[in-house]
Order: sequence, then C-alpha cells, then structure tokens
Amino acid sequence: MLAILGGSGLAQLSSLSETRRISARTAYGEPSGPLTLGKIGGREVIFLPRHGDAHSIPPHQVNYRANIQALKDAGVSRIAAVATVGGIRREFGPGALVVPDQIIDYTWGRASTFFEGPGARVTHIDFTEPYSAALRNDILAAARACGEPIADGGCYGSTQGPRLESAAEIARMERDGADLVGMTAMPEAALAREAGLEYAAIAVVANHAAGKGDSAHAISLTAIEAVVEQAMQRVRRILEQLAAR
Ligand code: HPA
Repeated sequence: MLAILGGSGLAQLSSLSETRRISARTAYGEPSGPLTLGKIGGREVIFLPRHGDAHSIPPHQVNYRANIQALKDAGVSRIAAVATVGGIRREFGPGALVVPDQIIDYTWGRASTFFEGPGARVTHIDFTEPYSAALRNDILAAARACGEPIADGGCYGSTQGPRLESAAEIARMERDGADLVGMTAMPEAALAREAGLEYAAIAVVANHAAGKGDSAHAISLTAIEAVVEQAMQRVRRILEQLAAR
C-alpha cells in the first residue's frame, strides 16, 4: 500500500474518499497524528501529515521513527513524501517541482536509526541511492501522465531548522553539491530504508534559498505561502495519478 507523507501546505488530502482515522502507537511513541486511511481512484492509500493536523510540530521535533514505524505497521510498502524546499540550483525557482535523487544530511540530534537501544545489533544499511528508483520513476510517470512539469533529480540538503539558512550556509551547501534545501528528508529517508520501505519525494520549491535570486537579501515568508498553495494543487493531481497506478 502507498502512503503519502504530507509536508507544509499539505496537511489535508481532500481527494481521499471513504476515510477513516486510526490512532497508532509504536515502540518509539506516537506518530505526528492519526493515520488517515482512504481511497483514491479505488485504491487504498494512507495519509499522514508530518507536522501534525494543525501544523504544530517543527521539523526537528517530528517523531520520524514513530511515523515510519506506524506506516509500516499499517501495511505500507511505499512512501511518497512531499516536502517544501528552498531552491539552490538556478533552475529550481519558486513553484518548481523536483523528484530528488540524492541527499546530504546537515541535521543533528535527531533520533535517526531503529538500530540502537537495548538488545539491538549494530546494523548498517546501504544508502548509496537514498531514494527508491522504482518509486521515483512512478512519480515521474504520474506527473507526465497529468502533464505537470517536474524535474528528474537533484540533491536535497537536509538542515536542522526551524530557522532558514544564512547566505553563507547556502553558498557552502551549493559547493557541497546541494540543489535544494529542506528540513525533513533526514532522518525520514534513512529510517524508511532501515524499515525496508520504498521511499521517494516530491520537493516543492517554495522560495529561492537564502542569498539566491529574489532571496538575495531576505526570504519573503508571505510570498512562500501563495507559491506553496498553488504548487500543492499540482502535487495533489500527481498523487492522484500515482495512487491509481
Ligand atoms: N530552507 C529550508 N527549508 C525550506 C526552505 C528554505 O529556504 N524553504 C522551504 N523549506
């Protein structure tokens, strides 16, 4: 079953029908909220907004382990994550949609593995390709089928937040090879891999990253909201296509 992990601007998924909500509990605590089970195009889908129903959980306080574990327990095998990001690469301006293919982790202090604690064995996972190639292709095909332009590939730099970055931090990330900056890809993607779930993302560019383009001197937070609201209409269409596949 497919799960959709909603980000900022996607706290509801109105296209879900016949919904029911289930409160989940895991050994890692509670997920960001109840899981919403429903159907899109006749297919069962689970929706979970990462920041909670009321958008009250900041990126560094999301219980990523509980979210991934709860989805796995509910029978999920594939996770399509939606995340708003800042664009570092010139082509990734506000409103662009990107299916990233790489990650650099700049987060710290987050509970970032299932493989720790009493009785756990030291376990390493392969993370060379952090996103599922199959699910990335399905998202790209879904976007193509509904005529929504979407970029294939980009490196997502995951920062701690909740503050945005300084211009120098973005310049450093650019030198590192990051094309996008967001706050939630890690540890989410790594935990999904540890749990054996396919994981891929739709990154929604909300703004030029700090110091870039029209964010040369500051990032306009009011402009972000309008961009995200518009872009999420397109993301919803892609997700409907994806679920129907
Ligand atoms: N930086 C980090 N996360 C973000 C940004 C940004 O500029 N925009 C939206 N999410």
